[in-house]
Amino acid sequence: MILYFSGTGNSEHAAKKLEAQLGDTALNLAYYIKNDIHKTIHSEKPWVIVVPTYAWQVPHIVTGWLRQTELTGSHDAYFVMTCGDGIGNASAYNRAFCKEKGWTYRGTAKIVMPENYIAMFDAPDLETSKRIVKAADRIISRAGNYILQGGNLPEEKATLKDKILSGPINTGFNRFYVKATKFYTKDSCTGCGLCENYCPVNNISLKNGRPVWGDFCTHCMACICHCPTEAIEYGKTSVGKVRYTCPED
Ligand SMILES: Cc1cc2nc3c(=O)[nH]c(=O)nc-3n(C[C@H](O)[C@H](O)[C@H](O)COP(=O)(O)O)c2cc1C
Repeated sequence: MILYFSGTGNSEHAAKKLEAQLGDTALNLAYYIKNDIHKTIHSEKPWVIVVPTYAWQVPHIVTGWLRQTELTGSHDAYFVMTCGDGIGNASAYNRAFCKEKGWTYRGTAKIVMPENYIAMFDAPDLETSKRIVKAADRIISRAGNYILQGGNLPEEKATLKDKILSGPINTGFNRFYVKATKFYTKDSCTGCGLCENYCPVNNISLKNGRPVWGDFCTHCMACICHCPTEAIEYGKTSVGKVRYTCPED
């Protein structure tokens, strides 16, 4: 069973590719997280966790949900992490997580896809994004082949820098940077409510026809990147930047 979480579509794209290749089912965790659903899920096929990389780890919202949910059947777990650049030492955390869950760790695949974190960096333009996604498809398919054969995913050795990024930097990032306080809307907001629908953690509600952000933001960039009138900004950082969503095949 493929379990995926996605803010702007990259990980959904990877999950759907793997769904077709593995002949398996892909479940969108946003639905389960958003509605606080933790009913037992069963799969005889290995668990394939497909997620964006957030500060060189699996998003904590996903590990939190996995901790609270019983997954029966297969004890094998693969991780497929989409990223803009790198996953640091995420493998070590995924291995430790599997131990905690009683799973056999079968490796982590790094899938470089377009950067979506416009609260900090730039996203690529459409043509560049399409090229990056095309290149990523080959790596996704290679990971799929390892999973089909029941092998372990090959991994790169983590450097000291990787350990620092996935360790103290991740902790500091989540503690001090991941907040919704800098989101605001411009006059071009039509009050359509798409941001509320796209928010995978139920952190947005419409008040007087405008989105209001609560305290549970994961910085997934779904609201700001899916807004049809580009009316949402994140402080000054996002102004004038390309809004990113994964291009269609
Ligand atoms: C909060 C946040 C943190 C991120 N941290 C990293 C990171 O540590 N390394 C990296 O290469 N990309 C990072 N990115 C980029 C995303 O992992 C990447 O664009 C991913 O494919 C987005 O997936 P999605 O479209 O499924 O949400 C980050 C993005 C966000 C929103």
